[in-house]
Amino acid sequence: MKIPITKPYFDDAEKQALIEPLNSGWVVQGPKVKGFEEAVRRFSGAAHARATTSCTTALHLALVAAGIGPGDEVIVPAFTFVATANAVEYLGAKPIFVDIDLSTFNIAPSQIEPAVTPRTKAILPVHLFGLCCEMKTVLEAAAKYHLRVIEDAACAIGGFYQGMHAGTMGDAGCLSFHPRKSITTGEGGMVLTNDADIARRVEILRDHGAEMSDLARHEGKGLLLPEYNTLGYNYRMTDLQGALGCVQMEKLPAILERKRILASRYNDALAHLKWLQPPVIPDGYDHGYQSYVCLFQPEPLSDMTSERLSKLHNQRNNLMDKLNQQGVSTRQGTHAVHALGYYRKKYNLKPWDFPHSWAAEHLTLALPLYPLMTDQEQTFVCDALRRNVGA
Ligand SMILES: Cc1ncc(COP(=O)(O)O)c(C=O)c1O
Repeated sequence: MKIPITKPYFDDAEKQALIEPLNSGWVVQGPKVKGFEEAVRRFSGAAHARATTSCTTALHLALVAAGIGPGDEVIVPAFTFVATANAVEYLGAKPIFVDIDLSTFNIAPSQIEPAVTPRTKAILPVHLFGLCCEMKTVLEAAAKYHLRVIEDAACAIGGFYQGMHAGTMGDAGCLSFHPRKSITTGEGGMVLTNDADIARRVEILRDHGAEMSDLARHEGKGLLLPEYNTLGYNYRMTDLQGALGCVQMEKLPAILERKRILASRYNDALAHLKWLQPPVIPDGYDHGYQSYVCLFQPEPLSDMTSERLSKLHNQRNNLMDKLNQQGVSTRQGTHAVHALGYYRKKYNLKPWDFPHSWAAEHLTLALPLYPLMTDQEQTFVCDALRRNVGA
């Protein structure tokens, strides 16, 4: 058996959906993108949804639309995908890294306020792997210091915090539709916001700065080329992706349901493995389960030294290698961005500046999870895990 880390859920519905834009000839940001935006808007409860080419470009536009610029500081968790911090760098702003909580892998609430300086303009919390971060503290700090909040909800479609969908609690939130996510359009992203002004700015910015989109013009709102008052970008989603997105949104409830069942089966099957900490879900949170990420923790991680971390890291890597040889794909969760070459060198950061993020980089273990995973495949994964650590 070969078990991948993930696999998109496509069938004939996606193949059929692609035919329509091909037949109509409308292949860029047209009626299908509009339909996809409306489906995500309704599902998330946001007032506005604007599609882009990726979550990275969605983050870029949301930050520009929120008024972040050169010299500003933006608070970001150190353990995330590199794109979170890159979006801040694109603006000439500075990402200020803070450490995470090792139980949730999300930004540590206690670290936010100490990171605020007179130059801080925004907080960029990440709802990592589909679990929302503790937004109460984020929003309180933002209110206290008059900061913008742009949520990186790349992984978090289907993730809720106290009944609110990821990406709808701050000034704006950004989703990803990369194939690792619960639904995919190949590449793709979306800005969610309740602020009509931000939605309008994103709409203009993603389309070269055009004051009116091609679709609006086509719908009879004028024949002449529009005005361009803003330096914009070409971050338009194609209608082929929009068509895929519409079908994927119809499947989303079933995808989330199956992933939750699989996650709960993993929780039960792995509960007695003392060396593996399964994902922690505090009360009031619904995990979106982009992925099922555990912490490899054969011994307590308090007072961690480089030597001990390196020993545990080697053990985790050996386990990943053995599983791979036996047909089970696993991955590390994500990376400690402050320790990546670009950030380390530019800001003179040291790996142990953010010890939990550094430990998470070395010890996270994502297990296979995808909606079409069968019970037999999952049992195969659990058996392989037990076999390889002698549990
Ligand atoms: C936390 C986080 N932020 C941003 C991104 C970037 O998303 P995209 O690949 O759609 O640009 C990802 C993608 O994996 C992510 O996991």
